[in-house]
Amino acid sequence: MDVFFVFKSEIVGLLVSSAAILLSVTACYFLLKPLNRIRDLCDVGYEEQLRLDNYGQTRRQLANEMRRRKKIGEIPPVYPNGWFVLCESDDLKNRQVRSVDALGEHFAVFRSAEGVAYVLDAYCPHLGAHLGVGSRVVGDCVECPFHGWQFRGADGQCTSIPYTSGKIPKSARVKSWPCDEVNGFIFVWYHAEQENPSWKVPRIPEIVTRKWIYGGRSEYKVNAHIQEIPENGSDVAHLDCLHGPSLLYGSDLNAAQGGKSDNGWAPFLQHHWKVKWEANSEEKHVAISSLHHELRLFGRLPFISVDVEAKQMGPGLVCLSFNTSFGRCLLFETVTPIEPMIQRVLHRLYAPVFMVGPIAKFFVWGEAVMFERDVAVWNSKTFTSKPMLVAEDRAINLYRRWFQQFYSENSPRFTFKENVAHPGNINAYWIGKKRHLTLVMYNW
Ligand code: FES
Ligand SMILES: [Fe+2]
Repeated sequence: MDVFFVFKSEIVGLLVSSAAILLSVTACYFLLKPLNRIRDLCDVGYEEQLRLDNYGQTRRQLANEMRRRKKIGEIPPVYPNGWFVLCESDDLKNRQVRSVDALGEHFAVFRSAEGVAYVLDAYCPHLGAHLGVGSRVVGDCVECPFHGWQFRGADGQCTSIPYTSGKIPKSARVKSWPCDEVNGFIFVWYHAEQENPSWKVPRIPEIVTRKWIYGGRSEYKVNAHIQEIPENGSDVAHLDCLHGPSLLYGSDLNAAQGGKSDNGWAPFLQHHWKVKWEANSEEKHVAISSLHHELRLFGRLPFISVDVEAKQMGPGLVCLSFNTSFGRCLLFETVTPIEPMIQRVLHRLYAPVFMVGPIAKFFVWGEAVMFERDVAVWNSKTFTSKPMLVAEDRAINLYRRWFQQFYSENSPRFTFKENVAHPGNINAYWIGKKRHLTLVMYNW
C-alpha cells in the first residue's frame, strides 16, 4: 500500500513538474518570439462608423464604401521616383519566385540558386504568362511555366527556348528592374523617366555584422496618397494632439480622445514630443526629423525618455534610430504604393540580442499603436493641396517642397472620370504623358 502511495505521489510530482516546465518553455517562447502585427485595410480606423452607421455591414464592406466615397483631393502624381520595398528577404528563399504588384507594375521577384535576388517584369514576351506564378528558377534564370522559355535575372535576356532549333532572338527579353537587397529588404528602383538609381540604400553595419538582429515587425495597408505618410515627420503639431494620450488608450481615436481629458487617470501617463524637421544639405534625397520623446507621470515627471533620429531616404524609406535607456536600436519604415491610394507600410526592428524579446516587443507594439492612430486619420482624410497653415506648421511646407524632387515629367497621375458606357460607374484613370492606363475601381 505504502509503495503504491509513494509511486502515486511520484507520478503526480512528475506530472506537475513536467507541466511547469512545459508552461515555462511556452511562456519563454511567446516572450522571446518577435512580435508580428499585421493589419489589413479595414482593420484600423473605422470604429466610429461601425458603432454609429454600419447597417449590418461588415468592417470590410464599410471600409470599401468609405474608400469609394472619400474625396481624395488634388493629389500629386501617385508613383514618385525612388527605391521601394517589394518584399522582405525572409520571404524569398533560394530558388523561389514571387509575384508582387506595386507602382502600377507587375513584378516577378526571384532568388537564384546562389542567393541573388532579381526583379523582372512579370509578363512573358512570348505569350504573356506571368513569370511570378508557377514558374521555377534554373540557375540565375526564371523559367516561364507556359512553354519553358528561360530569362536571365541580371538583364532579362531569354537564354533558352526548349523546343526551337533556331537562334534565340535578341529581342526576346523582359525588362529587368534595378534592385538591391539591403537590411533585410528587397528594393526595386522605380523611375518614371527610366533613369538609373541616383543614390543607394545604405547598409547598416550593425545589421550586416549581425550585431543587431531582427526583433519584430508590423505591416499595414493604408488608404492614402504616399506623400501623406512621411509628411507625418514634419507635422510637429499633430504629435502632442494625436500621440499625447498614453499608449494604454490604444489606437482607437475615440478612446485616445479620452486620454486628453483632465478626469480619471488620463493625466497619469502622457507622451510629450519635441521634433525638428530639416532637409539634409549634403544628400538631397535625405531629410531628418530629430525627435525627443518623454513619457511623463502626472504631466510633469519624466519617466522614460527616448531620442529618435528619423532619416527619410527618398519617398519610400525611413530609418528610425532609437536611443533609449535600454540601448540603441533601429526601426525601418518602408512605404510602397500598391495602388494609387493604397500604401503597404512595413516596420522592421533590429536590436542588440539582449533587447530582443520583451523589450523589442514593447517597442514594436508601442510604435504600432501610435502609428495606427495616424492610419485611422489617413484612412479617412482628404489630401489638401493648399493647406491652411500657421507659422508653427512651417515644416510641412518645407517637406512638401522637398518631396517635389521625387516627381518628374512622366510620373503617373490619377484622376476620376465617369464611365460613359455605364453611367454611375466611376472609372479611375492613371494618366502619364507617355501612357494611359485604365483601371476600374474595384472592391478590395
Ligand atoms: S508564355 Fe512564356 S514561354 Fe510561352
Ligand atoms: Fe504621427
